Amino acid sequence: MTTASAPGKIILFGEHAVVYGRPALAIPMTQVQATAEVTKASRPGIWIEAPDISLFSDLASLPSSHPLAAVIQGVFTALGIGSLPALTVQITSTIPVASGLGSGAAVSVAIVRALSEFLGHPLPEETISALAYEVEKLHHGTPSGIDNTVITYSRPVYFVKDHPIETLQVGTPFTIVIGDTGIRAPTKESVGDVRKLWQAGPARWEKVFDGIGEIALKARKVIESGEVQFLGPLMDENQLLLRELTVSCPELDRLVKAAHRSGALGAKLSGGGRGGNMIALVPQEKAPAIAEALMSAGAQRTIVTTVKSN
Ligand code: PMV
Repeated sequence: MTTASAPGKIILFGEHAVVYGRPALAIPMTQVQATAEVTKASRPGIWIEAPDISLFSDLASLPSSHPLAAVIQGVFTALGIGSLPALTVQITSTIPVASGLGSGAAVSVAIVRALSEFLGHPLPEETISALAYEVEKLHHGTPSGIDNTVITYSRPVYFVKDHPIETLQVGTPFTIVIGDTGIRAPTKESVGDVRKLWQAGPARWEKVFDGIGEIALKARKVIESGEVQFLGPLMDENQLLLRELTVSCPELDRLVKAAHRSGALGAKLSGGGRGGNMIALVPQEKAPAIAEALMSAGAQRTIVTTVKSN
């Protein structure tokens, strides 16, 4: 039996604009994990068990466009394996789906790791990330690649599409509270809607992307220099631009407002938006009270995490 896990992720700055080549910052979130377990099967075939989504199937019965089928097939192709051994891939995850925490990419990364190790040829991180990226295309349409990157390498990253990964150094640790609206919102839809806006008026939206990119650049500087007091206002500015992009929603806005009222230094949505999660930068000692205020404002759950270099 071989088991592998991959963390969730949170985007700190730069979502959506990152799809258009601007920089973004993201961190792994080890409090939630996807896990894949590969065992030898007693009957021929490749068996997939994903109880969280009530999926019990053999590979041959799934369409090749199914993300789980695609990732497993991707591993066989990468390893040049023609005759398939009898095995079972079991997938479990504590990462909520469609909520901006990278559940799809984490499942892919965990499967690639466990399966390639089980087959005796553990794949390097670069290949793991590339295979997960191919599957992200099925989930997201036109992904930037930030999810598979931060989840594969499991460290804070400064990410620019099609550029080598850069590690984000965290000068002084800082605390964020993550609040889940409980609304599941497929990233494919918000990314697709932003694309429609952009296609209808590229000049206007390029300016917005530029603004978000500049914020991400400034945020990298203040995170690396440890001057995190400047981070809150940058989050607020980023949230305004995300609202302009139409990817916030009343429930996210309510949580952002509640975070400010209860003492957060800045807050914004995180990920695809239209639901899913928001993040608030908080003074560490106020984290429990701010988490409680988010719950009172409708959050379904909160996670407090400290961001630091690995
Ligand atoms: O998977 P999510 O919901 O965290 O969204 C990823 C971030 C986007 O910038 C919206 C899309 C992308 O591919 O970068």
